[in-house]
Amino acid sequence: MSAPITVLGIESSCDDTAAAVVCGVAGNANILSNVVFGQTDIHADFGGVVPEIAARAHAEKIDHVVEQALISADTNLTNIGAIAVTAGPGLIGGVLSGVMCAKGLSLATGKPLIGVNHLAGHALTPQLTDGIEFPYLILLVSGGHCQFLLVEGHDTYTRLGGTIDDAPGEAFDKTARILGLPQPGGPAVETAASEGNASVYSLPRPLLNRDDCNMSFSGLKTAILRARDDVISTHGGLPTQARADLCAGFQEAVTDVLVAKARKALAVARSIAPSVKTLAVAGGVAANGQIRMALRQLCAETETVFVAPPLVLCTDNAAMIAYTGLLRFNAGVIDDLTLSARPRWPLDQKSASLTGSGKKGAKS
Ligand code: KG4
Ligand code: ZN
Repeated sequence: MSAPITVLGIESSCDDTAAAVVCGVAGNANILSNVVFGQTDIHADFGGVVPEIAARAHAEKIDHVVEQALISADTNLTNIGAIAVTAGPGLIGGVLSGVMCAKGLSLATGKPLIGVNHLAGHALTPQLTDGIEFPYLILLVSGGHCQFLLVEGHDTYTRLGGTIDDAPGEAFDKTARILGLPQPGGPAVETAASEGNASVYSLPRPLLNRDDCNMSFSGLKTAILRARDDVISTHGGLPTQARADLCAGFQEAVTDVLVAKARKALAVARSIAPSVKTLAVAGGVAANGQIRMALRQLCAETETVFVAPPLVLCTDNAAMIAYTGLLRFNAGVIDDLTLSARPRWPLDQKSASLTGSGKKGAKS
């Protein structure tokens, strides 16, 4: 077994500037600090992440966030064994800020530099939080990502399927906008849905009849837009109850699609790696109570262990980057100062994403 190592992680691929210190070995590491500076307020007036504004904010904040992570871990650069940084996929300006910062630190201290794939960070989080062993299945489901990954090692991923258009978080956000609810849309839609009846409006479950693990959410958002317009033309406005019913119907449709495709993905994962015991989730949408509950129920039915890391580690953070760096360091994978930022970087090179870039960068 490798000796414990302390890794500084840096993340700046979207709208969170983050740094963290993680110490330990594969399957048993502790998070000594985890600092995240979010940019939600900065982008609030624009209805989405503005890449140039995000890049500038990362560049301004990154040194400070790294310093805070070291202070709150009660350590300093001398005690750090390696510096891990998100090198992609993501918004190029933000990724560059992190990579330049990490290169500068590595050059100044002589510590090894490790470039990390952001999606690998999400995919390896259940091992950081719950020590689960490979192989396992993970559903990454956020505003920017939506895919099922079979994880067989720190660098062995099979993408079993994903969205062919919007990510679910994006669909929650757009639905909130259509219904006049605040951003981020997920929590607002979930709150409104708790007062609604999901069976009032008949909404589509796209691609459910297809025997694969791909999903589609953009038609659902269009159906919500049409239903809202019908309600407005009938009532001369959008009554609170109709809004709640639309939210409940939307949430249930997303849940049905995710659960049906997770069932399929479990079967496919087990046909490739029969020892798969766990289904994990990560990403902001994994905060949704109905979705969590339905996935937990699916796991109970299929004798599968369900793992949902704490929300702060489901959403973008640098602890997952530090932990991925730790695994890469143990495997002897170290970069040099030629490390470059990669806006696109599919985890599974054999079956790359079906979608292009979303508002937050590469989607799946
Ligand atoms: O992982 P995340 O913080 O950022 C990225 O997209 O990378 O996820 C944010 C997304 C947003 O689209 C937000 O609306 C959604 O996660 N979200 C939720 C909930 N909380 C956050 N979606 C559904 N239900 C929630 N409770
Ligand atoms: Zn992410």
